[in-house]
Amino acid sequence: MGSDRRAIGIGLMGLGVVGSGVARILQQKAGVYERQIGHALVIRRVLVRDPSKEREFAIDPALVTTNAADLLDDPEIELIIEVMGGEQPAYRYLRDALKANKFVVTANKELMAKHGAELLGLAREHKVDLLYEASVGGGIPIIAPLKRDLLANDIVGVTAIINGTTNYILTSMTKHGGSFHDALAAAQALGYAEPDPTNDVEGIDATYKLCILAALAFHMDVHPDQVFREGITKLAERDFRYARELGYAIKLLAMGRKQGDQVQLRVHPALVPLDQLLASVDGALNAVEIEGDLMSRVLFQGPGAGSLPTTSAVVADALDAAVSISNRVYWPLSSRREAGLRVMPMDDVRTRYYLRIGVADRPGVLASIAGALSERQISIASVIQKEVDGQDTAEIVIMTHDAREADLQRALRDIRGIAGVVDVDQVVRVNS
Ligand code: NAP
Ligand code: HSE
Repeated sequence: MGSDRRAIGIGLMGLGVVGSGVARILQQKAGVYERQIGHALVIRRVLVRDPSKEREFAIDPALVTTNAADLLDDPEIELIIEVMGGEQPAYRYLRDALKANKFVVTANKELMAKHGAELLGLAREHKVDLLYEASVGGGIPIIAPLKRDLLANDIVGVTAIINGTTNYILTSMTKHGGSFHDALAAAQALGYAEPDPTNDVEGIDATYKLCILAALAFHMDVHPDQVFREGITKLAERDFRYARELGYAIKLLAMGRKQGDQVQLRVHPALVPLDQLLASVDGALNAVEIEGDLMSRVLFQGPGAGSLPTTSAVVADALDAAVSISNRVYWPLSSRREAGLRVMPMDDVRTRYYLRIGVADRPGVLASIAGALSERQISIASVIQKEVDGQDTAEIVIMTHDAREADLQRALRDIRGIAGVVDVDQVVRVNS
C-alpha cells in the first residue's frame, strides 16, 4: 500500500475550550507533527455558531463558517474533528461526514453513548476510522488501551471516577467540610462546573462515559437509559465525617461488572475503603480501574478535563487518523458482540450499604430497625449511634454486609414505618 506526502485537510467543528486548544496546538506543533507522520495537518475550515465571538485563539477569520456544508462538501477535507458537543446537530454532521468517507475524531461522549454503535458501523461500512479517545477521561489514554492493549483479556470489571467536577466537589466536602451547595459554588467559581451543572452532579456525564467504556470492555451495546444512576446532591457534610470514621472516602463511581451472562452497570456515590487506590484520586482528577482475567487490575489516572489534556487526546487521534488516511488503510473497531449478555436489573445487584437513620432517642428503636433488616435477610456489620445536640433525636449509622438491592429497599420501607424512626436520611452503597 503506497503513501504520499501531501497535506491532510481538517474540518474543525467547534472552537470553544477544546477546539481552541486543538487549533492552537496544531499550529504550534505543526513542524513536529509533520516530521512525526510525514504529512502536514492543515485546518481548512472551522465551524462555529457565532463568528463574531471573541476567542481564546485568534483563528484566520477566512476559515470560519457557520455552514456545516462548507466542511462536509469540501473534498479537500478528509478528516473532521468534532468538538462542538451535544447530540444534535453533531449526530447529523458526523453521519454525513462518515457517509462522505471522511475520517472522524470526536470528543463527544453524549453522541458516542447514544449513537456510538451506529456511527462505528457506518465508519466500517465506509472504510474510515471514527476515533473518540477524548470522550472519556479527557487526557487519560483509556479508549486505545481497551481497543488494543487489553484485548487479550476477558474484562470483568470497570470501576471509574470519570467526572472531574463531582470529584472536585466531593474532595472539597471531605477536606474542608461545608455543604454540597458551598462546594458546588466553589467549583463554579474555579471554572470546573458549568453554570448549569446538572449533567455533572446528577451523574449523567459519568453515565455517558460508562456506556462508552462498557461497550469496549464487555463487547455489548449499552444505552444510557439502561444504567442505574444516582447523583451526589443529597450527600451531607456529616456523611463525609462518618465515612472517614469508618475508614472510607465518598466518590461518585461509575461501575461495570460482569457476572455470568449479566453485567451490572451503575453510577452513584459510593463509600470507597481508604486503602483502595481510587479513594485517593482527589480534586478534578479522573481514574479508571480495569480488571481482567489475565492482567488482574490496572489503574489509569490523570486529568479528565481541561483544554490541553483533552487536546492531547484529540490531536493524538488526529495524528493516528492522518497516518491511516495517507496509507489508505483504516483500523475498524472489532465488531465482536457478546450475544446473550444483558444488563443486570438493579434489584438483583448485591452490595454493602451505609445507612444513616434519624430516630427518636428512646428504648427499642434500634432493636426494631435491626429486626426489620433481619426480616429481609440483611446482616448488620456495624452500628454507631450519634446523638444530635439539643433535641430528643439521635442518628444511627449502620453498615450492612452484602445484601440484595430489592431486599434493602423493602427493609427501608419497613424501617420508615417503625414508630420512633424520623426518616432514613441517607443510603450509600459501598465499593467492596
Ligand atoms: P464549548 O467550549 O462550549 O465549545 C463548543 C464549540 O462548538 C463552540 O465554539 C461553539 O460555537 C461550537 N458549537 C456548538 N454548537 C454548535 C452548532 N450547533 N453549530 C456550530 N458550532 C457549534 O465546549 P467544549 O468544552 O470545548 O467541549 C467540546 C466537546 O468536548 C464536548 O463534546 C465535550 O463534552 C467534550 N469534552 C470537553 C472537555 C472539557 O474539558 N471542556 C473534556 C472532555 C471532552 P460558538 O463558540 O460560536 O458558540
Ligand atoms: N464536565 C466534565 C467533567 C468534563 O467535569 O469531568 C469532561 O468530560
